[in-house]
Amino acid sequence: MSASRTWKETLGKAIPEDLGREIDIFETQIELRKKLKIEEKLFAETRLRRGAYGQRYDNGQRHDGEKTQALLFPSREITKGPTTMWDAPGMQRIKIPMGRLAADQLDTLADVAEEYSDRILHVTTRQDFQLHFVHIEDTPDLHRRLSTVGITTREACGNTVRNVTACPYAGVCREEKFDVTPYAHAITYFLLGHDDTQDFGRKVKVAFSGCKENACGLTNFHDMGAIARTRVEGGKVKRGFEYYVGGGLGAVPQAALLFDEFLPEEELLPISQAVSRVFARLGERANRARARLKFLVKKLGIDDFKRLVLEERAKLRVDPRWTAFLADLHATDEKPLRPPGPLPTTNLPDGFARWRESNVVPQRQDGYVMAVITLPLGDLTSEQARALADVARQYTGNTMRTTVDQNLLLRWVSEADLPAVYQALVTIDLAKPGAGSIADITACPGTDTCKLGISSSRSLAAQLTKELAASGLDRDPNAKHLHIKTSGCFNSCGQHHVADMGFLGVSRNVGGRRVPHFQLVVGGQWTNNGGSYGLAIGAVPSKRVPEMVKRLTTRYAKERQGEETFAAFTTRIGKKTIRAMVEELQALPTYDQDPSYYSDWGDPREYTISDMGEGECAGEVVPIVEVGLAAAEREIFESQILLDESKLQGAADRAFSAMLQAARALTREKAPNLGTDAAEIVAEFRRHFYDTRLFFDPFAGGKFAHYFFRANDDREKTATKDTVHQLIEEATLFVDAAHQCYLRLGAALGGPAAAVTVRS
Ligand code: HEM
Ligand code: SF4
Repeated sequence: MSASRTWKETLGKAIPEDLGREIDIFETQIELRKKLKIEEKLFAETRLRRGAYGQRYDNGQRHDGEKTQALLFPSREITKGPTTMWDAPGMQRIKIPMGRLAADQLDTLADVAEEYSDRILHVTTRQDFQLHFVHIEDTPDLHRRLSTVGITTREACGNTVRNVTACPYAGVCREEKFDVTPYAHAITYFLLGHDDTQDFGRKVKVAFSGCKENACGLTNFHDMGAIARTRVEGGKVKRGFEYYVGGGLGAVPQAALLFDEFLPEEELLPISQAVSRVFARLGERANRARARLKFLVKKLGIDDFKRLVLEERAKLRVDPRWTAFLADLHATDEKPLRPPGPLPTTNLPDGFARWRESNVVPQRQDGYVMAVITLPLGDLTSEQARALADVARQYTGNTMRTTVDQNLLLRWVSEADLPAVYQALVTIDLAKPGAGSIADITACPGTDTCKLGISSSRSLAAQLTKELAASGLDRDPNAKHLHIKTSGCFNSCGQHHVADMGFLGVSRNVGGRRVPHFQLVVGGQWTNNGGSYGLAIGAVPSKRVPEMVKRLTTRYAKERQGEETFAAFTTRIGKKTIRAMVEELQALPTYDQDPSYYSDWGDPREYTISDMGEGECAGEVVPIVEVGLAAAEREIFESQILLDESKLQGAADRAFSAMLQAARALTREKAPNLGTDAAEIVAEFRRHFYDTRLFFDPFAGGKFAHYFFRANDDREKTATKDTVHQLIEEATLFVDAAHQCYLRLGAALGGPAAAVTVRS
């Protein structure tokens, strides 16, 4: 009898019927796939819709730090996405709507993490959990076990409505207009599996916030974002939402646009349904890179988009679910387990005061507080999870939430119990202070497990945490409030655009070897629901990033004027100053002098495999293409300065010129006589690099080349602050892509690729 049968029989009727049926179907599809009776593409969409992702294995290989081992799978020839075996163990994303978590759910999550993955429960930047190294054969049982505690992984990935997120403080926050939980809960289960949400060209993300000013909801970069609002109508307080559409991060972030400044509560579901229908009907399909709702809203303009949505709304068949939940808005309320009481003043445990200062937040309800559990890199072990479930059962009940900065929150802690709760957390190593501080760093999965990762965002975050603690900057009153976020590549899963200091992974050629770097992004705003996005200042070698962070943070702490924000400080000292700090750290010792710079944090492997350049200073001879790419980067930087000085047209011209410069540098390798005329460069670049697909990124395809072509087409258009900001983002990505292309194809171009390991 197979394991899956055993669990199905054991759990029996505890599996909700509808979820059970879906899981059975999925299990059958896995069997069919094994027999090659379903095409890979179709199966991929099926498994992604159930949250079963591929994960990084370096071309179906696994490196244990010393040697590479081939992974043996039954379906050797069939890949799961580029270069990974479809049946290799993958990642399972588990949706946690609004991050709400009960003790028995945490127990079950601990069980499945232990039995099917590497025992680590990872909290994501959208309040989900992820398990890694899960075998596809185990996923049906994993899903069944979760279903018995009310968790579904349905639509955790794929072109669907992803997890609905909400402020983790909802319902207990002192600053919210009202508790958004019942609304977020209603929309979650209304849109889940709805006919109108099954045919999108790309994913849709929904977020709720109880106020406009704080960061917890991050509505500004979601496809649909709702901020609680009230107004008085006929002497009565009426609830509604400031409703936004078309925001998103990704390679080029887009701020959401205001759809309605007061969407009445009864219109929340039908309007969201109408938005879904318009997106499904008119959204881009062929070009995945432009398929998010943000591109449709931009293409149509918010007024036309709104008109279409309202027309769609008028045609919808009335659905009782639109308003049924309004009859009992208290259905999702939490009840405290223990009576409120004053905080004891004596016999407080060691470390309690510091932890309380950084990790405890008072609730709106007197006598109760929330305790943030700081999770290093968003991870906790199955043992910790189970023990934490016991702490919750003893002190708070089912009132936990995951947070978008990858932590956990215990709500409804009676102040009288706080020292005991702290002590219990200490014993399971979950009482780390510094929640929300500069050392509490957000990181995407990066090269650890993500196939798209270029640099190790997680290991960098771990190193930064360590060095910031050692330097005392995590306790400095002038610096500890800063936010750092790291992404392993331009896709922004670590939300690096909205940090004080954001980092995104890139790589550079140094002396014929590939070296991991991170672009430093400054000027982003975390508050105001992720209110504005920063721009890249320059690439810092991975191993020098901690030094960069310490230098910049120390300077801020010393020179800060009053309550000056980091963004205001960077504007005051000027990007040129920060750029100079970056440049100071860019030159590296040669490989022979110090090979440590040529591998990434936490990874004993080197980026290069050949011994090319050994014994000589390869850095002395810089190929002309690299000179051109460096000049292009400088121009991008200059365009940022022009933007800061509000010289919009000049900034746009300079950003385009940077793209031209990079395109020319690359194209001259194929067409040495290429002149400087823009039309000629565009045409020749297209001929040699686009039509041949040489410039295509293994994952993003021709996306970055399109940025260049569009920038060329749009040169006559009037530049605005937003268009220039976007152009600079796109120019940065184009030049980075030119670097990657050069590294990938270097051998053919006479460059460094012979020394390069191309990683999946
Ligand atoms: C084309 C590929 C991808 C793009 C454009 C992309 C983009 C994004 C963006 C913009 C966010 C976060 C912010 C937000 O909008 O809420 C996000 C979230 C996330 N991404 Fe990606 N991503 C991609 C692929 C991946 C891959 C391959 C992984 C690794 C397994 C990954 C892991 C994550 C995680 C863990 C989150 C938090 C998500 C959640 O819990 O729902 N992403 N992604
Ligand atoms: S930002 Fe890049 S490396 Fe990080 S998880 Fe997203 S796709 Fe992967």
